[in-house]
Amino acid sequence: MYCFKKEEYLKRMQWYVEARFGMFLHWGLYSIPARGEWVRSFEKQTDQEYDTYFREFNPVDYDPGKWARAAKEAGMKYMVLTAKHHDGFCLFDSRYTEFKATNTKCGRDLVKEYVEAVRAEGLKVGLYYSLLDWHHEDYPHFEDSAHPMYRNPSYTDEGRVWERYVEYLHNQVRELCTNYGKIDILWFDYSFGEYSGEKWGATKLVNMVRQLQPGVIIDNRLEVSGAGLGSLASGNPLPYHGDFVSPEQIIPQEGIRDVNGEPLIWEACFTMNDSWGYNLKDTCFKPAPMLIKKLVECVSKGGNMLLNVGPDARGNFPEASAAILKDIGKWMEKNHESIYGCGMSDMPRPDFGRITQKGSKLYYHIFDNTIGPIPLAGIEKKDVKKIRLIAAGAEVPIADNWVSRNYPDITFADLGRDPVLPDPIDTVLEVELAEG
Ligand code: GLC
Repeated sequence: MYCFKKEEYLKRMQWYVEARFGMFLHWGLYSIPARGEWVRSFEKQTDQEYDTYFREFNPVDYDPGKWARAAKEAGMKYMVLTAKHHDGFCLFDSRYTEFKATNTKCGRDLVKEYVEAVRAEGLKVGLYYSLLDWHHEDYPHFEDSAHPMYRNPSYTDEGRVWERYVEYLHNQVRELCTNYGKIDILWFDYSFGEYSGEKWGATKLVNMVRQLQPGVIIDNRLEVSGAGLGSLASGNPLPYHGDFVSPEQIIPQEGIRDVNGEPLIWEACFTMNDSWGYNLKDTCFKPAPMLIKKLVECVSKGGNMLLNVGPDARGNFPEASAAILKDIGKWMEKNHESIYGCGMSDMPRPDFGRITQKGSKLYYHIFDNTIGPIPLAGIEKKDVKKIRLIAAGAEVPIADNWVSRNYPDITFADLGRDPVLPDPIDTVLEVELAEG
């Protein structure tokens, strides 16, 4: 019987919940057609057609140190790279396939360089591994609606041996857990229908992973996909339960809780434009101010944000992504205290923004201007030890004038009469409560 050890679990998760902000990286052969990472499936490309990209792949500008520095400057604390995506192409040097970066023109183990560079910047190392595999000959071609050869009569499932694929999957995960030093996050993707849990040999797989990488954090997609919570939420965790819930392209309305109402650890992953893999024509990038507010939203609901970048075929970040990361970094540099180690607050959500909390410190994130002083609803004056504008380290007095006196039950912060907010994106006030 599997016994879930909560204390051990929470200890393992500590750095991760404190980190709050990470970078997702979708990169592979699909950066060449530049139509997203599902291109092979959407366009029903055969192996031969997709092989063109295998023969071309040569990311001459690949410099993971540059990627890691960009992530760090944006205030991110961890990175997750697609070691293998659904197309089956491996960025790492696997003994079990020829379909790998070391066999392309570039001839490099791109995962090895990545893990070293990420560690060198002091960031945590994450690897994404696709459970689906559109290249492996034993992976069902005919039955899986996502497979490029779905319902194609020339690709029946006869002679395909599922157990052989599962063995391949386990072998590759063993390689990732053995050959690349300490791995901090393993991000499996994804389960669907009957392809879930033990179909992947999940108990055995997770036992192996935990033995090789005792501290590793695993997502919940050996059980579910971007939809669904996983068994940690059920109060009856399975041996391969995910360590966090992984909502995709959405931020949950009020955080995520288990059946008993206890908050669960979660990470919302989403794209910076509308694509995970590099997409030349997708210029629909979310502006930095919006992403900053979304990060605050995640933290205020007790979650992490994993923001994606899809590097191009040469190995560079799209310019728009790089510029957005820089802008996020500018805000994070001055305001990160309101993000790292922070979480949900018991206070009601103020209508001008959101609140994050770390112990006795409440961070009021002011997105909208107020007329008159800024109401810190829910706090009594006697409980306030200090109010500071964190970006400047400046103290902010409690307002006391004829306007505020009309509302004796509300504590107001005084940033001026009709404050023009010092930071039009998100002005953060730290309210330190007197303890006890
Ligand atoms: C999905 C998609 C995929 C992407 C992932 C990120 O499940 O299949 O392309 O890698 O979500 O969460």
